[in-house]
Amino acid sequence: MDVQNLEKSVSEIPFSEELTACAEATDRTLRRLLDGQKDIPSRLKEAMIYTVLSPGKRIRAALVQWCCRVVSGQVNENALNTAAAVEMVHTYSLIHDDLPAMDDDDFRRSRPSCHKQFDEATAILAGDALLTFAFEVLAAEITPPQTAVQMVRILAEAAGPAGMIAGQIKDLQSQGVEGTLSELQSIHICKTGRMFAASAELGAVAGRASEKHQKALARFGLDIGLGFQIADDLLDVSATSEQLGKTAGKDSRQKKLTYPSLVGIEKARQIAEQITQRALEDLSCFGSEADILRRLAVELLNRKR
Ligand code: IPE
Ligand code: IPE
Ligand code: MG
Ligand code: MG
Ligand code: MG
Repeated sequence: MDVQNLEKSVSEIPFSEELTACAEATDRTLRRLLDGQKDIPSRLKEAMIYTVLSPGKRIRAALVQWCCRVVSGQVNENALNTAAAVEMVHTYSLIHDDLPAMDDDDFRRSRPSCHKQFDEATAILAGDALLTFAFEVLAAEITPPQTAVQMVRILAEAAGPAGMIAGQIKDLQSQGVEGTLSELQSIHICKTGRMFAASAELGAVAGRASEKHQKALARFGLDIGLGFQIADDLLDVSATSEQLGKTAGKDSRQKKLTYPSLVGIEKARQIAEQITQRALEDLSCFGSEADILRRLAVELLNRKR
């Protein structure tokens, strides 16, 4: 089914209500987990909470929950704790991405970035703390222990030196340098696709999916993650800072290698649409229980923030 036809068939799903419910469940879990930590120094805890509970879209955390529900019919405790861990790792990546040594961005989730609200050292440490705490949560909260180990590995491989961090360093190294489409695709897959793939796969593991379903959901996550970063590049040139809650127009100022800068806006849109099509095909082994994911793919293609 193509993207246009699909839009009609899944349009009855109350998507924004579903996303809000997932975001609220994620935030409740984050609060519970952080409230349980009495020994975090107050300024550090304030900086962690300031950023992780700030108004982000919580897409990756929703993906964990929905993938669990698609394969098992419900969102269980493992999925909620994992969604919170994923959101912590994602938030740490944003705190560090905004630092002066990286993208040097003062505005994030409609607020001053962590290093502007606090200071650089506190922001670095708040990022470190969220990253480390995420893995503590998986180790301590996920049952049985074999599932915890499996999840730690999936998240570490996606966020680590051959995953998101690889993407981040390649992104910085690509600034002001001519690049090819395949280099750009590899940057975007690493820095964003891998965390989406992990989110989907972790949801599948939480729901005790078959290996076939787990692989299909990981592929779906990778594809929508690549599409998500292309849309992010497009929004950087087409949306306002108010809409985005972060500084628009900064990619060209920083001479980033992006889809619009390399292939132009029209072609970048076409590529994003093709990738969304591929993401829908990744779901062919599922029935209507996966319609929420089909709708997510379409929503992310058309997103405005
Ligand atoms: C921003 O991610 C970083 C990218 C990978 C483009 P989001 O757009 O999901 O940011 P939040 O979580 O909603 O703030
Ligand atoms: C960041 O990509 C991806 C991360 C892993 C944080 P960007 O640098 O384009 O994200 P924004 O535009 O600052 O949110
Ligand atoms: Mg960046
Ligand atoms: Mg950035
Ligand atoms: Mg961006």
